Amino acid sequence: MTKKYTVLPAFLLSAFIASATPLASPDGKLAIEPGLDSAGHPTYSVSFNGLPVVSSGILGLKADEADFTSFAEIKEGAVVAEDNTWKPVWGEFETIRDNYTEMPVEYTTSDGRKITVRFRAYNDGVAFRYEIPEQQKVNYLTLRDEATTFPLAEDLSVFAIPGDYDTDERLYVESPVSQLGKRMRVRRHTESSGIPGVSVQTPLMAKSTKNKLYVNIHEAALVGYPAMALEVDTANIVFKAHLTPDRNGVRGYLQAPFHTPWRTLIISDDARDILASQLILNLNEPCAIENTDWIKPMKFVGVWWEMFVGRSRTWAYSNKYNAKPGITDYSSLESNGRHPANTENVKKYIDFAAENGIDGVLVEGWNEGWEDWAGWRKNRQFIFDKAYPDFDVEALRDYAAEKGVKLIMHHETAANAADYERQLDRAFQFMVDNNYPAVKTGYVGHIIPRSEYHSSQWMVDHYLHVAQRAADYKIMVDSHEAVRPTGLCRTWPNWIAQESARGGEFESMGGNPPEHTCLLPFTRLKGGPMDYTPGLFQADLSYYGEGKNGGGKTTLARQLALYVTMASPLQMACDLPENYNRFPDAFQFIRDVPLDWSDSRWLEAEPGDYITVARREKNGNDWYIGGVTDENARIAMLDFSFLEPGKKYTATIYEDGADADFRSNQQSYNIRKIKVNSKTKLKQKVAPGGGFAIQIKAADDLAGL
Ligand code: NOJ
Ligand code: CA
Repeated sequence: MTKKYTVLPAFLLSAFIASATPLASPDGKLAIEPGLDSAGHPTYSVSFNGLPVVSSGILGLKADEADFTSFAEIKEGAVVAEDNTWKPVWGEFETIRDNYTEMPVEYTTSDGRKITVRFRAYNDGVAFRYEIPEQQKVNYLTLRDEATTFPLAEDLSVFAIPGDYDTDERLYVESPVSQLGKRMRVRRHTESSGIPGVSVQTPLMAKSTKNKLYVNIHEAALVGYPAMALEVDTANIVFKAHLTPDRNGVRGYLQAPFHTPWRTLIISDDARDILASQLILNLNEPCAIENTDWIKPMKFVGVWWEMFVGRSRTWAYSNKYNAKPGITDYSSLESNGRHPANTENVKKYIDFAAENGIDGVLVEGWNEGWEDWAGWRKNRQFIFDKAYPDFDVEALRDYAAEKGVKLIMHHETAANAADYERQLDRAFQFMVDNNYPAVKTGYVGHIIPRSEYHSSQWMVDHYLHVAQRAADYKIMVDSHEAVRPTGLCRTWPNWIAQESARGGEFESMGGNPPEHTCLLPFTRLKGGPMDYTPGLFQADLSYYGEGKNGGGKTTLARQLALYVTMASPLQMACDLPENYNRFPDAFQFIRDVPLDWSDSRWLEAEPGDYITVARREKNGNDWYIGGVTDENARIAMLDFSFLEPGKKYTATIYEDGADADFRSNQQSYNIRKIKVNSKTKLKQKVAPGGGFAIQIKAADDLAGL
């Protein structure tokens, strides 16, 4: 069915608004209603259970060559309904249901240019994207602006980090939209990155204080386009899309036919549904890799944390700074004696991994270039196939293979993406030759090409290119400082994790307040798994006696919970082996916890306050529960009805000790075993800044143990 409306000139009927049929979600609870206002702007409104969520948001794109913000005609296309299931290579569920209704709406300008806005309504949210079809008079487009706005029907309370072209490694601010200007703690960087006024980054989490309403705003399938931040109009409670420009002010270079990423709103009256939503993955294309056998979740340890915790260790091999990589003969340099990426030390980590069933060892600081950490000042810094003299690539390759452990390579590009692309094939071939199945990439610094930012179009293309090229070499990628993810790991499951948020490393730099990990699953993790690096047992860094005080804002038991609440197919056990050896009974949980799940059930959740989730391991019957709280102690209410009725289970509970507190008594924990079944209800105490982790095994699986 198609309908056609013509907009009357504004002077004839100034209040005229043409609207298309609202598109309802399969369960009828959500609706998205396209329209055209009296000025010819395309609009959309969103409602949930009849409650307005977005009221008359504006749509449109503006390019130098063509303006797609004002139209004369709106034509509604036929509604299609889809209901499929698909299986991710790894993830939180074995099977994901993709169930939606879809309607394309075509807008035509008075001079005949066309754009289609494709709307989708799922039971867990709505989405839309712009499609510029092939047509006469439209070919290349120099994109200047995306007009999309999200006028909220209510002054929602949001959890957001400041808008920024270059980093997502910020702490969240909780504030009503109207107060964001006053509450945004980090303004300086925002201003220097060029976003006018108040702005926020997505994924952004919002909740109503009046109605039962939770909204998450983000984007899905960011390909060939810049990442979106949101400008905030605090007076009118409106967010507006702010696309990352290059330094010439251009947002994107496009060619028709073309479509943008999806703009997504995950919506529910229950915060747990926001966590359970698979909308962003569903909006991404199916897996593009034919044979995925080589993509394997990995748990790993690494020399990495030694460099953060105050053992005065360095990524660099020598003290000779301002060396000239590629020119200097590194073999003539003298070691500074504080370089953990050396053969002997790495062997110890390999031994530890082998003894504890840990799959991999990450080695940072193994290659030439760290002596001159200022990559953006010149054209070349790191060499990705030349090891330092004390790192014996072949010996370690053979040693790791003997022990059944995989090495994970590190490519810190110092944000010199251009040079990384030049070296990429050689670097990946070097990895293949030396048995490295995974690489952690890094982009610390100012991007080269100098015209770009971390989230501009050129860089968005770069990260994807690296993941795609890595797939050709059967290499998994964990990118740090890359653009926030948008579900592309469905299409490229070898892009196994990303950082793209303030991670566990900040526990060595002032700490992450406990609410941070009660927020990340609602925000950053909606785009894909995070390499958060949990497992910090020695959070109080004064232990090392090197003038580092305080540090980690966590209890030990909470760190175990993070493996479940922050699910990722790539999980580090970040702490030093010696610290795990001090607490072997607690470390047992890290050894046991799976990385891949067949089912996930959120038992309790409130953004910024607490999260409790139960997950069943992939290819097995064991369940695991992770629970975290913010700075407040609480009692988690666990209902075990997710277990198979009639079956008996034993639960091993790793919990905060009675006197545990993230401020004063981090290492107080307790481990106990109880019998549970599907009728069990448990009140679980959680310390301030604490958490708990539970392993649940069916009693018959325990026979013979
Ligand atoms: C920042 C990354 O997040 C961290 O994990 C890494 O160790 C350093 N850059 C050095 O590359
Ligand atoms: Ca980082």
